[in-house]
This record gives sequence, structure tokens and C-alpha cells, in this order.
Amino acid sequence: MCQRILTIETSCDETAAAVVTDRLDVLASVVASQDRLHERYGGVVPEIAARAHVERILPVIDETLRRGELKLADLDGIAVVNTPGLAGSLLVGVAAAKALCVATGKPLLAVNHLHAHIYACQIADRQNVFPCVGFIVSGGHTNLYHCVSPTQFRYLGGTIDDAAGEAFDKVAAMLQLPYPGGPSVSAAAAAGNAQKYPFPRPFLRDHNRLGFSFSGLKTAVRYAIAGTGKVDFSALQLSDRETADVAASFQEAVVDCLVGKAMLAVQQTGLGRLCVGGGVAANTLFRERLTTACRQVDTELHIAPPQLCTDNAIMGGLAIEHLKAGSLETLELDVLPGLVRGA
Ligand code: KG4
Ligand code: ZN
Repeated sequence: MCQRILTIETSCDETAAAVVTDRLDVLASVVASQDRLHERYGGVVPEIAARAHVERILPVIDETLRRGELKLADLDGIAVVNTPGLAGSLLVGVAAAKALCVATGKPLLAVNHLHAHIYACQIADRQNVFPCVGFIVSGGHTNLYHCVSPTQFRYLGGTIDDAAGEAFDKVAAMLQLPYPGGPSVSAAAAAGNAQKYPFPRPFLRDHNRLGFSFSGLKTAVRYAIAGTGKVDFSALQLSDRETADVAASFQEAVVDCLVGKAMLAVQQTGLGRLCVGGGVAANTLFRERLTTACRQVDTELHIAPPQLCTDNAIMGGLAIEHLKAGSLETLELDVLPGLVRGA
């Protein structure tokens, strides 16, 4: 008999649940996106996210069990992401998981969202991917780690300001493209000239520095489309061609930085294996460039399919490792919103 874990993910603006087995089979998965609620603000509003999680969490769990043709009694554990993320959002998932554990007597397991983004590669490719260089490129993080095991990460470097996904979202807002910005900027970029604007690539030529900075790039985009004065972006009249060229040039600059530093981490660590996760890893250009770069230096690359890169609960299947190790939580489990680097 295999073991089955219900996993719950509410760290940001996706309310998600899944059931994953100890053989890493996915029996069911549901993701309720809140994109439409946050769209008009051009980014996630924490209070709106938390309230939406409260409304959705039980229907999402119900639907997950229904799709898996499972009852709560069929589960061997209940796992929940408790770090890092938005405090109010994390609390909803943790409270739901604790309530289910009290009601059923099942073990409670805690999942680190960053570890889970890398573990998504192990679930997708059904093979051990550790040790590896782990690269998390999302709306909140752009971090490189030496991943010793599924739950032991050593920080190698990351962004000193905006995350890559955040830069996509902010540039989308400037270009009047819909939220979330990653998919809309990359769609607009398809028709653009990526060489039109020579946007900066911070630190790219510094071969000793495993770091990123995207806020200057974002400012460069602003100056390119609106000059240096005060501006009302909603009143800007950009042609489709200008929008496409800015989007393509911006995307090219971000991808150059991401691929350059990922390969520097591979070279510095000598690990020979790179695993990538987080919403920006759904980006087609990034995936293509990284595939080529890894092939050139004979490095094994694992990137989960796009739907496993953006937030989901399947990646919480990582909790199987905790169950196997007997690493269970008590009802004292708390949320740790601000774990940015440590992992
Ligand atoms: O991992 P994720 O779903 O949530 C966080 O943990 O942050 O990542 C969301 C981020 C957003 O900033 C979104 O714009 C970006 O990932 N994103 C993309 C793409 N799809 C999502 N960025 C670039 N290209 C994409 N195709
Ligand atoms: Zn994420």
C-alpha cells in the first residue's frame, strides 16, 4: 500500500491542494488562481489574498479529494507550506491543515516553499536530482543555492533588490499589459526586436559575483518609454511595435542575467546538475537559453513543466521526505513569513 499525503499551498495568491503518493504519483491537484482579484492593482495585495484564501481553501481541498476519489481517512499525512510567504496567506493554509489534523488524527507536516519549488523537478522527472545547484526564479525570489538534499540548502547568491518576476510584473504595468506580467510581457515580446533597447545587465560581466539586481533595469525601461519626468503610465500612447520592442529588449536583458549567473553557479560549484523552479522558469526564452547553455558545458538540467514552475501544491509532495524521516510537526507549528535567504 502506498502512502498518500494531502498538500496545501497558500503562501501567496494561489489557493492550491494536491494529493501525492510516496512514489511521487500525483492523484489530484487543484489550483485556484486569484489573478483576477489582483489584476487591477498590478501586483498581489496581501489583505485581499488572505481573504480570498479563506473563501477558497475548503472548496479547493474538497475538490482535490473528489478528483482523487479519496476520503480524509485515506490519507497518511497532511502537509502545508508555512514559510516563506505572506503572513496572512500562510496562516490560512496552516490553520486549515491543523484543523484537519485535529479532526482526523493524521500527522502534520511542514513544507518550505523554496525547497518545494526545487523538489518540483524531482517530482516531474521522477528521479533523484540532489545534490544540485537550485535556482528559484519567482515573483518573490531570485536565489541560487547549493542544494545538498531536498531540505538542506546553502545560499550562494541572489537579488539585492527586486525579484525577476517582480520586474516582469512592474514592466507589464508600465506597458499597460495585464497582470501577471511574466506571461503578458513574454507574449508581447514575441513580435519585438530584442536588440532595439540596450538595457543594462547588472553584474553580468563580474565573474566573481553571484548576484542579481533588477531595479535599475526597471528604471531603464521607465526612462526608455517615458523619459525622466513625472509620468502617468495610463496616459502613455505606445504603439504595438514600441511595446513589443521594449518587452523583447527587457526580457532579453533579464534572461541574459539569469542564464549567466546560473551557469556561473554551476561552474563555481562543479555540481554538474542544475534544477530550476518558480514562476519565471515558465518563460520560454529562459528555458531555451538555459537548455543550450547547459548542453554546452555538459550539465544536467531539470526544469519542471510550466504548470509545476508557477505556484502549485504538487511540489509540496516534498513532505513525503519528512514523513519518511519521521519529521512531524505539532499543533504549535507557526508561520515564518520572512525567510528570504536561509532556506
Ligand atoms: O512561483 P510563482 O508562481 O509565485 C511566487 O512564489 O512568487 O511566480 C510568480 C511570478 C510572477 O511574477 C509572474 O509574472 C512570473 O512568475 N511568471 C513569469 C512567467 N509566468 C509567470 N515570468 C516570465 N515569464 C513567464 N512565462
Ligand atoms: Zn513560488
